[in-house]
Amino acid sequence: MKKIVVITGAGMSAESGLKTFRDHDGLWENYRVEEVATPEAWEANPELVNRFYNERRKALYESSPNKGHKLVAELEKYFDVEVITQNIDDLHEQAGSSKVCHLHGELKKVRSSIDPNLIYDLDGWELKLGDKCEKGSLLRPHIVWFGEAVPEIERAIMLMGEAEIVIIIGTSLAVYPAASLVHYAPSNASIFLIDPKEPKMNLGGITHIAKGASEGMEDLMKKLKTII
Ligand code: APR
Repeated sequence: MKKIVVITGAGMSAESGLKTFRDHDGLWENYRVEEVATPEAWEANPELVNRFYNERRKALYESSPNKGHKLVAELEKYFDVEVITQNIDDLHEQAGSSKVCHLHGELKKVRSSIDPNLIYDLDGWELKLGDKCEKGSLLRPHIVWFGEAVPEIERAIMLMGEAEIVIIIGTSLAVYPAASLVHYAPSNASIFLIDPKEPKMNLGGITHIAKGASEGMEDLMKKLKTII
């Protein structure tokens, strides 16, 4: 089976009703990154940071995978598929994708503030500020904040090196190191971008499908089924 790597961003989940970051009415229009998505913010104002992620977790519980997620999962019938997502939602997994690498963490998980290896599934949408890990430290969202290391990036780079086809869906490619992944694809890999907007990054000889995730994946599935 040919190897496909799918790189997704917030636009993948937009049709499920989850806000992106940099579109009009996106999350960063209502919050300053420095106030809610950095370790310093967590130190300075854990109530605000915790509320930000509780709000997003609540929205996630009220959403469901869209057609685009389901078609990405359907690719596994015909290809060896790895999903590398910047998203912290679990909509790819809910849609049936079996190999998902979360570069920026997972919204439904929390972790110890002193031992990053102590990771727990959160029961329900609300992390109650003050709940502690088994070592007695404050539980925090299991999210990679700006300025923190991206533990999965090495594995993601390795996966990119094996790709015969790369599909990029719904990301502005504005945040590194995730945005650099596209440069690790083999020179002979076919690269497709599904996004209503033109990419800011110069992506050379890629095929841009200027549509939303669901419609774009419907178009691409037709093309991919001819090369199975
Ligand atoms: N279908 C496909 N793409 C869409 C759709 C849609 N329905 N709606 C919007 N988009 C596209 C936008 O055109 C944009 O290119 O999704 C992209 C969203 O970009 P961002 O909001 O910047 O989200 P993302 O690229 O995932 O951000 C990367 O930045 O703030 C950090 O950690 C955060 O993981 C996030 C990272």
